[in-house]
Amino acid sequence: MLNQEDNKLFTSIGPGTPMGEMLRRYWHPVQCAEFVTSKPTRLKILGEELLIYRGASGKPVLTQLRCAHRSLAMDYGRVEGDSIRCPYHGWLYDATGQCTAQPAEPEGSGFKEKVKLKTYPVQEYSGLVFAYMGPLPAPLLPIYDVMMDEDGAKGVAMRNVNCNWLNCIENIVDISHLAWLHGYTFPAYGAKKVTYHWDRKDYGMDNVMDIEGIDDTHISCYAFPNVNRFAAPPADKGGELVKSMIFRVPMDDSSTMQFYLRFYASDKKSINFQRKTEQLGVYRQLADDWWGIDVGDQDRMAIEQQGTIADRPNEHLGVSDGGIIMQRKMLRESLELIAQGKDPHCVIRDPAKQKIIFPQKSSMMEQRQDHLNYNRAFVNWNAAAE
Ligand code: FES
Repeated sequence: MLNQEDNKLFTSIGPGTPMGEMLRRYWHPVQCAEFVTSKPTRLKILGEELLIYRGASGKPVLTQLRCAHRSLAMDYGRVEGDSIRCPYHGWLYDATGQCTAQPAEPEGSGFKEKVKLKTYPVQEYSGLVFAYMGPLPAPLLPIYDVMMDEDGAKGVAMRNVNCNWLNCIENIVDISHLAWLHGYTFPAYGAKKVTYHWDRKDYGMDNVMDIEGIDDTHISCYAFPNVNRFAAPPADKGGELVKSMIFRVPMDDSSTMQFYLRFYASDKKSINFQRKTEQLGVYRQLADDWWGIDVGDQDRMAIEQQGTIADRPNEHLGVSDGGIIMQRKMLRESLELIAQGKDPHCVIRDPAKQKIIFPQKSSMMEQRQDHLNYNRAFVNWNAAAE
């Protein structure tokens, strides 16, 4: 359990909070590349209101949302070249945030040189736009294996979850629910002996599950602090496992944006972008699925319905929750490292360590159950809604 004070410490991610400052030490996806256009879009990341647009040069620009003059939200503004113009009094800001024009100020005034918006470094990779919001110099962007894969079918998606980020990341290392949801520990299926262990790795942690009688049952990987990599069932029957990742990016203390990457090798090279807005308590139904909820919404139900911020002072963690205990240790260690003036865990500055290949083992997931229609749920949410 966490006491009330620590639950607040771990779940408060706004500017100036210890956990917020820790999370700012990492690159995070902030938008699918496809949706970054010349139409400015409002975002909320780590408790900050931001604006993203694509300038004439093709490069994404990430700035504070509000105009430095009198605070107008500039998603109502207009992109001119690589600059953004506020619609209220026409102040113009270039891609670095520097104000370059103030139409109503006297000619020759140097006032504009004193005005600059906050901007953040961004880079585009594998269909996602990543931002770094921490102290400079920025570390390297981790290049995970799914981000390198190109020859096949790739899915890039985003959708919100209506709860705090810690609910979301605890779900990464909580693997005991997988055996339960898949029926291996349910008496009607003939309960099997299931064991779990968690191994610390350079990138974070491996979650390992073994079910009696099934070789290589399941490994999923936790890339600290907020990413996971796992194998989903094959999109085509008999095909290879779908490589999958989810980045869980806090928007504020009560909402999180999840960015998904899916990939499987295919002769037909393609990339498919999706985005979806989810309502708290509204979950897609599937009559013959476990608990009557579509597999694509089961985890969202589980983490949202713990409460916006889970009541950790009243939880009771068992042996099968060992991953959560290890994860909290890593979070606490990272806060201490920052207090000592060091990088937190898993920040990468050595180019030799930038590319990360994960183990992918899951004979459990190869035992695809067609009625769950994983392809529909994992690869194409629009089809799932039909
Ligand atoms: S509020 Fe933006 S130019 Fe005045």
